[in-house]
Amino acid sequence: MTNILVTGGAGYIGSHACKALKRAGYTPVTYDSLLTGWEDAVKFGPLEKGELSDRARLDEVFEKYKPAAVMHFAALSQVGESMRDPGMYWRANVLSSLTLIEATVAAGVKNFVFSSTCATYGDQDNVVLNESSAQYPINAYGGSKRAIEDILRDFGASSGLESVIFRYFNVAGADPEAEVGEFHQPETHLIPLMLDAIAGKRDALTIFGTDYETPDGTCIRDYVHVCDLVDAHVLGLKWLEEGKGSRIFNLGTGSGFSVREVIDHSRSVTNMDVPYNEGDRRPGDCTKLVSGSTRAVEELGWTPDRSTLQTMISDAWRWHQTGHYDK
Ligand code: UFG
Repeated sequence: MTNILVTGGAGYIGSHACKALKRAGYTPVTYDSLLTGWEDAVKFGPLEKGELSDRARLDEVFEKYKPAAVMHFAALSQVGESMRDPGMYWRANVLSSLTLIEATVAAGVKNFVFSSTCATYGDQDNVVLNESSAQYPINAYGGSKRAIEDILRDFGASSGLESVIFRYFNVAGADPEAEVGEFHQPETHLIPLMLDAIAGKRDALTIFGTDYETPDGTCIRDYVHVCDLVDAHVLGLKWLEEGKGSRIFNLGTGSGFSVREVIDHSRSVTNMDVPYNEGDRRPGDCTKLVSGSTRAVEELGWTPDRSTLQTMISDAWRWHQTGHYDK
């Protein structure tokens, strides 16, 4: 079986990617520090504990498994935190990724799949966000991811490293079989926080800002199901295996939903009340982020058929009710 090195395989998206890789016939080898990941989320292949910044440890793991490709998920990913502590984001995301990319090239691995973000585009009014849109990140998280995209471009030119870069919009939902799901500590994302509030596990949800220039005053996001997202990664891997070369793809559906619309859908999916209040804007939040691209559908043959709000919330709710992480 072909080994794929999955950094961050113990995290939310990485664990779903490991499941998708295994289903597609690969062996996902998780490389994770377990700082924000969970050992019991590594169910589909071996776990190698290590820091991304530890070059010797990376070299050892490359030597042991001889992976055919790297999928790089491990990162700090909270917009608000990145505004408070940008240094932490530049060190953890950019410097560590540079070490990983150098180790990848030194090991002779030619294919690299990278999780980037729509936060690299920033807040652009009335601009259709496609892969050739200009990037003006407004937070350190987006800035750090854009820098890693640049590093990949430069190593592509100097060493022939081929990369598929995915710019995610807002990832949501969980494995419909509830083997893995979303759990961050602390949690900052809208849907899991809302489900916790519905279940009475935390206080009411606070809507961050109701004075945005949107129809109902709250921010608009393009939500994509985590299972659809990781399916795109398997397609991206095959794209590289077929020698089609470096390419950037947005992963979003093109439909935007406001925070209030997400609350309304959650109420109807769970049949329960959503306790919420209205608060101030969160620094670093863009008004509207919606993908304007169909490149992944057209070129990769991606079919994001679980990415309706209804399915994302009901899959997240099913996972939530398993109580996996009620600690
Ligand atoms: N929100 C609230 N209350 C909360 C949490 C979130 O109103 O308690 C709002 C946010 O202001 C935002 C929307 O819900 O408008 C979604 O917020 P999330 O925190 O769930 O997601 P973000 O949009 O901040 O971040 C996500 C990913 C990032 C990515 C970013 C791009 O986590 O990795 O999308 O915007 F960069």
